Amino acid sequence: MRTHKCGELNTQQLDAMVQLCGWVHRRRDHGGVIFIDLRDRSGLVQIVFDPDYPETFALAESVRSEYVLKIEGKVRHRPEGTVNPNMRTGEIEVLVNHLEVLNESETPPFPIESEIEVNEETRLRYRYIDLRRTAMQEKMRVRRDVTRVLRNFLDAHDFFEIETPYLTKATPEGARDYIVPSRTHENAFFALPQSPQLYKQLLMIAGMDRYYQVVRCFRDEDLRADRQPEFTQLDIETSFLDENEIMQIMEEMIRRLFAEVIDVRLDPVFPRMTYQEAMSRFGIDRPDLRIPLELVDIADEMKEVDFKVFSGPANDAKGRVVAMRVPNGGELSRKDIDDLTKFVGIYGAKGLAYIKVNDRNGGIEGLQSPIVKFAAPEVWEKVLQKTGAQTGDLVFFGADKATIVNEAMGALRVKLGHDLGMVEGAWKPLWVIDFPMFEWDEKNQRYTAIHHPFTAPSCTPEALVADPGAALSRAYDLVLNGTEVGGGSIRINRMAMQETVFRILGISEAEAREKFGFLLDALKYGAPPHGGLAFGLDRLVMLMTGSHSIRDVIAFPKTQSAACPLVNAPAPVSEEQLKELGIKLRKPGKDPEQANQAAG
Ligand code: AMO
Ligand code: AMP
Repeated sequence: MRTHKCGELNTQQLDAMVQLCGWVHRRRDHGGVIFIDLRDRSGLVQIVFDPDYPETFALAESVRSEYVLKIEGKVRHRPEGTVNPNMRTGEIEVLVNHLEVLNESETPPFPIESEIEVNEETRLRYRYIDLRRTAMQEKMRVRRDVTRVLRNFLDAHDFFEIETPYLTKATPEGARDYIVPSRTHENAFFALPQSPQLYKQLLMIAGMDRYYQVVRCFRDEDLRADRQPEFTQLDIETSFLDENEIMQIMEEMIRRLFAEVIDVRLDPVFPRMTYQEAMSRFGIDRPDLRIPLELVDIADEMKEVDFKVFSGPANDAKGRVVAMRVPNGGELSRKDIDDLTKFVGIYGAKGLAYIKVNDRNGGIEGLQSPIVKFAAPEVWEKVLQKTGAQTGDLVFFGADKATIVNEAMGALRVKLGHDLGMVEGAWKPLWVIDFPMFEWDEKNQRYTAIHHPFTAPSCTPEALVADPGAALSRAYDLVLNGTEVGGGSIRINRMAMQETVFRILGISEAEAREKFGFLLDALKYGAPPHGGLAFGLDRLVMLMTGSHSIRDVIAFPKTQSAACPLVNAPAPVSEEQLKELGIKLRKPGKDPEQANQAAG
């Protein structure tokens, strides 16, 4: 239907007759001449209708925004003074001699422009309109390039792309499952995979050696800007490579990805940091290293002070007391500090003590703070030394249970970094390693796996049993600018170890058999040492396109409440369908949208 794309025309086609197809982006009538910016995926070109072709001209007058046109015309230079340097095709225009309206359009619900102020619900309801916008087309292009570069890299490194089932059994990754009933199996359900974890391990046992898959994963969990109920992983597994070898190949792949797709050179070697160090210095296991603020432990100094808020946690094994120096933070006003105190309150902090260092050499007199009175000048001197505070700085303090301090002060660190314009450098990748194997769940009085229960510990089964809380795993996460973009581990390949881990997790033998019997069986038949990882593809594309949410890089995402306003899913099903599935609703007649709102 067309000889060229709109956006690719330039002076090389001068005087050529061309045929174009596209949407009416904008129409302007100028004293007897009609100008239309015609748009297709490649971009815009100006087409011109003049009254010398009366029929075509008359038809052009009836054309409105987003009509779909096919035109034939001649490429010509734009007249002197009308060249548009901001437009790729800005030197030329096409004088139309023939116009065909391929389809009409109602006025779209919002304009097809880069910057629009429309609520997301509307954008998602009319996603096919939203995706016409250049900004969205660009994100889809980057996404296409990302998967292409990743596939090329993995193909060149002898990985097999192998598909694994979506209708399967629960694979624990810490979220809830989406379950699927079926007509042929009454009272039994498939689960959609939270990841292909167990299949890829079975593929290693099957001798596939190197596997990858660009694969959808399903998790019924609380959503955030970087979480969707269905999302895409680049899932990878290898045999006979240890964690260093795996991290090395993956680094190379990510460097290639950034270089080829967005022309960014990442570090030649990604730094590594233990989980312990990350938590201690940044309060989080995915630190944004672009922000040069750090937490400093001062529990030792605070054990004896006359301020319960600090001495309490300082003397409690589960407590933590930290200081965080903010260079030039002395400029923060009373109101700023009040606002920040409210901010840390979101994370459960009961306050936000501070010291303004008005004069570092002025002793206690040089400090301005509601808390200096609670301890001797030597104590504060030591604290200031530890933080490296200078005149003009401000030091914030957090004291509470370690989990609260880490979350609150970790978040404060990131907020201040951005608010005070302290973000350094564009891209800071980091491997976080040496995670603990288990976390103690206070509420349920049991251990839970920090990664999934198939992750290998870096110790023997005996040592693991002796002190589960102290055991480290052979897991690694790739963090980029404070976002966890990928994670994986060396897996357990021996049955005895797998059984030990299940036992520590409080999974009985019967339950382990019922849930993972197939894995335990497979481990009996020569399971090679293996390991791998999975990248969050949506998160990578989000970062690479500078998007604020992964919803922006997914063609048809779900809303924050895990619904799709475009097709209106989830939706009730007919009584007949339910009957066939052998399902009786506990709250019949309630439509899921209302149920959602009630829950929401
Ligand atoms: P994990 O659960 O860490 O590991 O997931 C791997 C990566 O997937 C991304 N991700 C998500 N992205 C969007 N929305 C979500 N709800 C979501 N959840 C996770 C993150 C994360 O780093 N089977 C293991 C991998 C392995 O051990 O090989 C797994 O799924 O970027
Ligand atoms: P108060 O004596 O309660 O007025 O508290 C003195 C200072 O300590 C105030 O600046 C509070 O914001 C701060 N503060 C209170 N609780 C905490 C806490 N758990 N961690 C850090 N600072 C706190």
